[in-house]
Amino acid sequence: MELRRLTDGDSEELVRVITESLAHLQPWSPWAAGGYDAAAAARFLRESAEEWENGTAFPHAITVDGAIVGVVALMRRAPDLAEIGYWLHPAHTGRGHATAASAQMVELAFGLGGVRRVQIWHDEANVASSGVPRRLGFTEVDRRTPAREPAIGNRVGVDVVWELRR
Ligand SMILES: CC(C)(COP(=O)(O)OP(=O)(O)OC[C@H]1O[C@@H](n2cnc3c(N)ncnc32)[C@H](O)[C@@H]1OP(=O)(O)O)[C@@H](O)C(=O)NCCC(=O)NCCS
Repeated sequence: MELRRLTDGDSEELVRVITESLAHLQPWSPWAAGGYDAAAAARFLRESAEEWENGTAFPHAITVDGAIVGVVALMRRAPDLAEIGYWLHPAHTGRGHATAASAQMVELAFGLGGVRRVQIWHDEANVASSGVPRRLGFTEVDRRTPAREPAIGNRVGVDVVWELRR
């Protein structure tokens, strides 16, 4: 598994990988609820480039043998706080890729000036997602309702917040 910065040239591959993953993403990911097309990929890649330039977020392709199998992103939320988000193609789960990718995001976060806390948020029903912060030694610090994102799919509408301090 390797991480790399996304580029404009990834649009077609991203649409294919996300389209193949839709049934697996839609229970949890509001951004995938309405399907995913070239316009959505172009918007995501444009915003990713802008955020990377501004230093506000660092979205990475998760790759295996050069092929995109998911995305992991580090997002700055406050001067001392960053957050990690992730998804994988369903054929590439169960191998530790999201955990390893998130471990790299933790390293990146603590290398940014001022960041002292990293969080991961997931819906209470998203047990697979909870495994990532648990394996990385994060501590559950909050359960928040109403949730930040709409309770679509399998979401019950309670955000579990995990945190790792430097
Ligand atoms: C959330 C999501 C990325 C988790 O995927 P995952 O495959 O469970 O997570 P990892 O890639 O870290 O793999 C961990 C699994 O691989 C196993 N594994 C194998 N080798 C491993 C290794 N070297 N290191 C860690 N785990 C390893 C673990 O035991 C674990 O398996 P288990 O769930 O049976 O215990 C995935 O379920 C997903 O894409 N869901 C839909 C989108 C989503 O919910 N995103 C998060 C929104 S908050």
